[in-house]
Order: sequence, then structure tokens, then C-alpha cells
Amino acid sequence: MKTTITTAVIFLAVAARSSVVFDVSTEPGGQGIRMSWVTNRWVCHDITEEGLNKNISWAFVDVGLANGCTLYEEADCKGEHVDIEKNNSNILGPGAVNLTDVSFDDKASSWSCY
Ligand SMILES: *[C@@H]1O[C@H](CO)[C@@H](O)[C@H](O)[C@H]1NC(C)=O
Ligand SMILES: *[C@@H]1O[C@H](CO)[C@@H](O)[C@H](O)[C@H]1NC(C)=O
Ligand SMILES: *[C@@H]1O[C@H](CO)[C@@H](O)[C@H](O)[C@H]1NC(C)=O
Repeated sequence: MKTTITTAVIFLAVAARSSVVFDVSTEPGGQGIRMSWVTNRWVCHDITEEGLNKNISWAFVDVGLANGCTLYEEADCKGEHVDIEKNNSNILGPGAVNLTDVSFDDKASSWSCY
């Protein structure tokens, strides 16, 4: 019994560590409609939330096991894309990105983290 509980706790700890928090919003500087997505790496998500499809103007890879997240112009993680690197104390990574700065304003229809 004790072994089972220990195993479950370890599993949860690993699951929590392997997820990534990816924040996006519809206006520069984290303003407008804002979402905080939690995911595992390598999973493609179509943007189905109301008001977000082709309307994202800001992105920030917050915490978790990932090097960054990618926004794609088409559903199914296809088409033109842009990588948003993870924030590493703003020393190794760029921190939050206004998508006008990378020519990807109001374009994203799907995303995944890597
Ligand atoms: C993004 O845009 C906002 C609002 O214009 C500005 O306050 C902020 O400094 C910008 N951030 C970056 C990283 O350029
Ligand atoms: C885009 O986001 C703004 C808020 O920043 C919202 O007012 C607008 O309705 C959204 N547009 C679409 C097409 O969903
Ligand atoms: C990036 O991470 C560092 C350390 O965790 C934090 O101090 C900084 O405010 C973060 N940058 C942004 C834009 O949130």
C-alpha cells in the first residue's frame, strides 16, 4: 500500500514538471483577452477559444520543461510559424514577445511547445 502511494506521488511530480505554461493575449503587453495554457511538449493544439483564433498579439513562455512554444498560421500546426523562446530570467531568453515585432500579429491558429 505504501509503495503504491509513493509511486503515485512520484508520477504526479513528474507530470507537473513536464508541463509548460504558455501565456497569450489579444493585445500587446499582455492586455486584452488573456489565456494561460498548460500543456505537455510536442502536443499540437488548435486555437478554438472564442476571440483568440487569428487574434493573438502577445506571447510569453512562462515556466515548465520546454525550450519554447511555436505559433502556427494554420490549424494542425501547419503553415508559417514563429518560435517563442522560454523566459530564462530575461538573460538567455527574450521574455514576453509582442507579435508585431516578429511579423506574426493576429495570425496564429494553432500552437505547440518544444
Ligand atoms: C509590448 O507592447 C507593450 C504595449 O505597447 C509595451 O508596453 C511593452 O514594453 C512591449 N514589450 C516588448 C517586449 O516589446
Ligand atoms: C480580438 O480581441 C479583442 C480584444 O483584444 C476583441 O475585442 C475582439 O473581439 C477580438 N476579435 C475577434 C475577431 O475575435
Ligand atoms: C523572467 O523570469 C525572471 C526570473 O524568474 C523574472 O524575474 C522576470 O520577471 C521574468 N520576465 C517576465 C517578462 O516576466
